[in-house]
Amino acid sequence: MSNLQQTLSIIKPDAVERNLDKEIKGMFKSKGFLILKEKKIQLEKSEAEKFYKVHETKPFYNDLCAYLSSGPIIVMILEKENAIIANRELMGSTNPKDAKEGTIRKKYGISIDKNSVHGSDSIDNAKIEIDFFFKD
Ligand code: CMP
Repeated sequence: MSNLQQTLSIIKPDAVERNLDKEIKGMFKSKGFLILKEKKIQLEKSEAEKFYKVHETKPFYNDLCAYLSSGPIIVMILEKENAIIANRELMGSTNPKDAKEGTIRKKYGISIDKNSVHGSDSIDNAKIEIDFFFKD
């Protein structure tokens, strides 16, 4: 049965700064993702805090929000069959050290913070995150 999904992807400041956006988008496209919408923006720290609110109790929350708002990012709506899990597989483990060959984080990630990409982790969060950036 068809299970076409949309998920939210962010190319993070470390990857935008190194001009890796074309390569990363190419990896999505070669795995069959459609990029339905995309924009390049820079968040205020307060906006990053809102985006990562699920992590507000974590010890890394402040650094995480400072980092996400430290430079331009590219936000995209990706579409594919089972896009949420497919995107998480293509990104690889949160910590690039643990990421498998062929994943974006293995190829480009620098550290657990500078891990080059973010992707929604569930259907509910995909809806919330897509609305966060693309609600007109
Ligand atoms: P991301 O998928 O964007 O979701 C939250 C981010 O927090 C995660 O990627 C990491 O870049 C960052 N982070 C920093 N420290 C940790 C940690 N100890 N565990 C999980 N995520 C972390």
